[in-house]
Amino acid sequence: MILSGKARLAGVIGWPISHSKSPRLHGYWLEALGIDGTYLPLAIEPENFETALKGLMYSGFGGVNITVPHKEAALAFCDEVDPLAKRIGAVNTIVFKGGRSYGSNTDAFGFIENLRQSAENLDFSTAKTVVLGAGGASRGVIVALQDAGVKNIILLNRTRERAEVLAADLSSGADGMITVADWDDRNDVLNGCDLLVNTTSLGMAGQPPLALSLDKLPKSCVVTDIVYAPLITPLLGMAEKRGNKIVDGLGMLLHQARPGFEAWFGVKPEVTEDLRKFVLAG
Ligand code: ATR
Repeated sequence: MILSGKARLAGVIGWPISHSKSPRLHGYWLEALGIDGTYLPLAIEPENFETALKGLMYSGFGGVNITVPHKEAALAFCDEVDPLAKRIGAVNTIVFKGGRSYGSNTDAFGFIENLRQSAENLDFSTAKTVVLGAGGASRGVIVALQDAGVKNIILLNRTRERAEVLAADLSSGADGMITVADWDDRNDVLNGCDLLVNTTSLGMAGQPPLALSLDKLPKSCVVTDIVYAPLITPLLGMAEKRGNKIVDGLGMLLHQARPGFEAWFGVKPEVTEDLRKFVLAG
């Protein structure tokens, strides 16, 4: 794409950034939609984060995505932050307007939209949901589940205390229950489960697989993993083999990008099979 002088500008800030799939993903939409605009990978060290963000704002950027390790710093930087991002404690999307910065978090949206698109029969309001892991990613997933109407969440983490803290934090003011169970009981809590979510880093390339027996998991349970490298984690492979519906983590990445793209480039993009193939091939 040849840019004009009026081209719209956006990008993704991280440190490092070379692994990011976001430039390829936004680039696909820009090309497919024939938009006069660009989306750049921006490698910015933590100590330069604020200076760089201000520089981009004053350089006419429409905004940026924020990835590791800057999501908390972005929350502190923004002039305004939407309530969902405050609850999650992290900003992944910034829109610049009139010299001000507006922060939001679209990870929760991405997680739920991916499930809605891939497991359309899942009834969130009645789903017994087991969430494995209580790190940063888990926060976004739990807030997303709560907002989608899930009332029964069972949270397990290797370090139980971290799960207790997260559950207490996210339970206040919310409709449903978050029950903490012991990591050692992870095979048993799968009994009667409708939705199983792995938010731990286990199963990611270079990490050990998640040690879990699915013997007690109903065949009707939807199993999802936020890890997308590899696309089919050992957990998803095991679940698929016994007939469970599986939802891989790539869809979450693709869907979380939609609100930012729309804000910066003015068009609502879609997640299609072609997009998935294109992003995977890069
Ligand atoms: P993220 O922001 O991606 O969630 P994180 O905050 O470092 O990253 O959290 C990683 C998650 O994977 C945590 O739930 C972690 O459990 P602990 O809180 O006990 O560390 C989980 N995790 C990582 N390695 C693990 C392992 N070998 N066994 C069980 N859980 C593990």
